[in-house]
Amino acid sequence: MKAVAISEFGPPENLRVVELPTPVPGPGEILVRVEAAGVNRPDILQRLGHYPPPPGVSDLPGLEVAGTIASVGPDVERWHEGDTVCALVAGGGYAEYCIVPAPQALPLPRGLRPGEAAAIPETYFTVWTNLFQRGRLSEGESVLIHGGSSGIGTTAIQLARAFGATAYATAGSDAKCGACERLGAHAINYKRSDFVEVVQEATNGKGVDVVLDIIGGDYLQRNIDCLAMHGRLLQIGLLGSARAEVNLRPIMTKRLTITGSTLRTRTVEEKGAIARELEARVWPLLASRQIRPIIHQTLSFSDAPEAHRLLESGAAIGKVVLVP
Ligand SMILES: NC(=O)c1ccc[n+]([C@@H]2O[C@H](COP(=O)([O-])OP(=O)(O)OC[C@H]3O[C@@H](n4cnc5c(N)ncnc54)[C@H](OP(=O)(O)O)[C@@H]3O)[C@@H](O)[C@H]2O)c1
Repeated sequence: MKAVAISEFGPPENLRVVELPTPVPGPGEILVRVEAAGVNRPDILQRLGHYPPPPGVSDLPGLEVAGTIASVGPDVERWHEGDTVCALVAGGGYAEYCIVPAPQALPLPRGLRPGEAAAIPETYFTVWTNLFQRGRLSEGESVLIHGGSSGIGTTAIQLARAFGATAYATAGSDAKCGACERLGAHAINYKRSDFVEVVQEATNGKGVDVVLDIIGGDYLQRNIDCLAMHGRLLQIGLLGSARAEVNLRPIMTKRLTITGSTLRTRTVEEKGAIARELEARVWPLLASRQIRPIIHQTLSFSDAPEAHRLLESGAAIGKVVLVP
């Protein structure tokens, strides 16, 4: 099969199209003939050598795919050859064939093509488990989403709005702010305004109930300053820095919760549980087109270096997708 491999850790041009043996699904696994694979910021970290796949997982990049099931391993009940699915994987997505643990696959949302559905799993699993399971965001509450125009951000804005929350989103340009507004957020151009001031003014000094952060570093104190009583801060990325110095007092006085998580190293059972909740609560919203994956551009496997450059440049609004 054709696949995109990381020849050695380094720049985007180290992504090379190679020929590899087609993998064979083991017990509890399915083999998907990939029609499209989503590109995510963690793929860039992996290419740079900062985000290795968990033990036993393909070292090819790619955390999500959509396509048709080519074969089914032993002990798989739900899926059959010929079913169309999209799936979360811990690696191996940039390939014509990809092994998927059966519980991590979902049917294609009704009406969506594989080229659209491939852009869903990584950000929807991440946002669902953080914003709603850990962060307990609920109807009538408010959330501040950093990187509102990112793959994660465009997903978080739509899900927050669909479940009845008010969304504030930061972004670094007017074009990105416009995209966030069209998805239903109150956008804040963080290069022109102080997001803490904007949030405090917009909420009459109350603050937001939840902050979803991908930056870290000096955003930590500012995120704490944005939170309302009983607020929750969800740390899911560190694009700024992993280190920060904070005044702990407001965590006590406002009774805040600071948490975070990574998705890739969770067990198949945990990911399967998230998949079932998504299928029940979010798939109907995708089928009715109330929410949708936001795709900036679709490129071929041979253009994988360009796909990474595009994401790294910060020019993308939403997701980049690769097709074999
Ligand atoms: N914990 C998890 O389970 C999990 C899972 C998936 C992704 N993530 C993390 O979530 C974050 C977003 O991922 P994504 O795939 O949605 O990313 P993406 O689409 O590439 O978007 C990243 C955006 O972040 C903003 N940004 C702000 N400061 C930045 C900096 N120093 N370097 C680069 N970008 C910066 C940029 O928008 P502006 O121009 O508006 O600043 C950029 O467009 C990443 O940190 C990723 O590692 C975490």
